[in-house]
Amino acid sequence: MKLTYYGHSCFQVEVKGKKILFDPFITYNELAKDIEVGKIEADYIFLSHGHADHIADAVSIAQRTGCTVVAAWEIHEWLNKQGVVKTHPMNTGGKWAFDFGVVKCVVAQHSSSLPDGSYGGNPMGFLFITDEGNFYFSGDTALTLDMQLIPSWAKLDFSVLSLGDNFTMDVADAIRCADFVQCKRVVGVHYNTFGFIKIDTEAAIQAFTAAGKELILPAIGASTDL
Ligand code: NI
Ligand code: MN
Repeated sequence: MKLTYYGHSCFQVEVKGKKILFDPFITYNELAKDIEVGKIEADYIFLSHGHADHIADAVSIAQRTGCTVVAAWEIHEWLNKQGVVKTHPMNTGGKWAFDFGVVKCVVAQHSSSLPDGSYGGNPMGFLFITDEGNFYFSGDTALTLDMQLIPSWAKLDFSVLSLGDNFTMDVADAIRCADFVQCKRVVGVHYNTFGFIKIDTEAAIQAFTAAGKELILPAIGASTDL
């Protein structure tokens, strides 16, 4: 599977010819100023929760591409009010068979509200189970024991984990998360975008290596095969 990183927690994975975009936050991300948001393609957008640093560009990309937006029930209702009607509501614990594979919504320990202050429902992580491979996106979350359930549902090829600390797991917790989900290959997200989540990337990579795991921190705009 090809993964393209667009900064913060925004990335795109191509599965079975479908372009699946996660948590688009580009326009207001200083680090992603070279990314042209108007050129990003998407067949689907998955939103882990309603915070602005995960959905800022969702409405514009959805309206331009006509893609399907998958999110918690409350975010789906909010999107409908913004004029985005091609939505698929889900909630924690549920799964659905899409045309590229099955997605299961899993627990994320965080909070969720929309930019206008309305309630965003449960924050979620997503487990993708496809013919081309399986992966887990943690969303914004604390380390939680619920992560230990993930290997009972799927053997992972890679995980995308938030590890910038302050709002989410730090690097040490992300390493423990990788143990919980039984996955040695991790793409790190949700770091360095703001002052609160600055990390030492070299130290992070070394810490993963010392734990017998691989931490991939793609450059913004770069694609990697996983
Ligand atoms: Ni958040
Ligand atoms: Mn966030």
